[in-house]
Amino acid sequence: MSARPVLIAPSILSADFARLGEEMNTVATADLMHVDVMDGHFVPNLTIGPPVVKALARVSPLPLDVHLMIEPVDVYLEAFVSAGASIVTVHAEATKHLDRTLSVVRDLGARVGVSLNPATPLDVIRYVLDKVDLILLMTVNPGFGGQSFIEAVVPKIVACRELLDGRDVMIEVDGGISPETAPIVVRAGADVLVAGNAIFTHPDRAAAIADLRAAASSAA
Ligand code: DX5
Ligand code: ZN
Repeated sequence: MSARPVLIAPSILSADFARLGEEMNTVATADLMHVDVMDGHFVPNLTIGPPVVKALARVSPLPLDVHLMIEPVDVYLEAFVSAGASIVTVHAEATKHLDRTLSVVRDLGARVGVSLNPATPLDVIRYVLDKVDLILLMTVNPGFGGQSFIEAVVPKIVACRELLDGRDVMIEVDGGISPETAPIVVRAGADVLVAGNAIFTHPDRAAAIADLRAAASSAA
């Protein structure tokens, strides 16, 4: 549906954490490096914080797309931006003052993303559309890689593209994205595909990325 190029963002949550530098190099043909930050409070899992993001930024072949699944979030924004995040995405559900949180990210100089869980209605971002570069629609409940794609989010992607009304804002989808589900989300209006399992369980990561690109362009 969208004429824009579809970007691929491998999620290193599914990579070997003992070899993150090497693992990132195996996905250098993608477009963004998706980094999942989890706090054991907003989501039932724990991953990494600013010191690791800083180390990743030093060696990543791609810009870091940092997905913050943490609450509170405001107090950590500066740490993630100075660690080297290119895009900082916050969950609308994790801040009481979304407009302020998004403005802080912008003022810190990073690109601004806002994320919604599968059950969260689009209405919560209606009045902040001019403050974001990217909307991340979760297609699984956040917390873990390797979960099944939630089909009910597809109409939300369509409605989000309509709500954007031609604005230059990317729609990213995250969770259960594979060569099977990629055409569905691209047809609905997504233009950034996060994929963890589909890429990192594949023996040939460049081939996995090429498969996702081909699946995405088959939707056009
Ligand atoms: C889930 C994370 C995702 C996850 C996606 O909370 O936000 O980025 O790594 O993994 P897959 O592609 O395996 O569903
Ligand atoms: Zn993510």
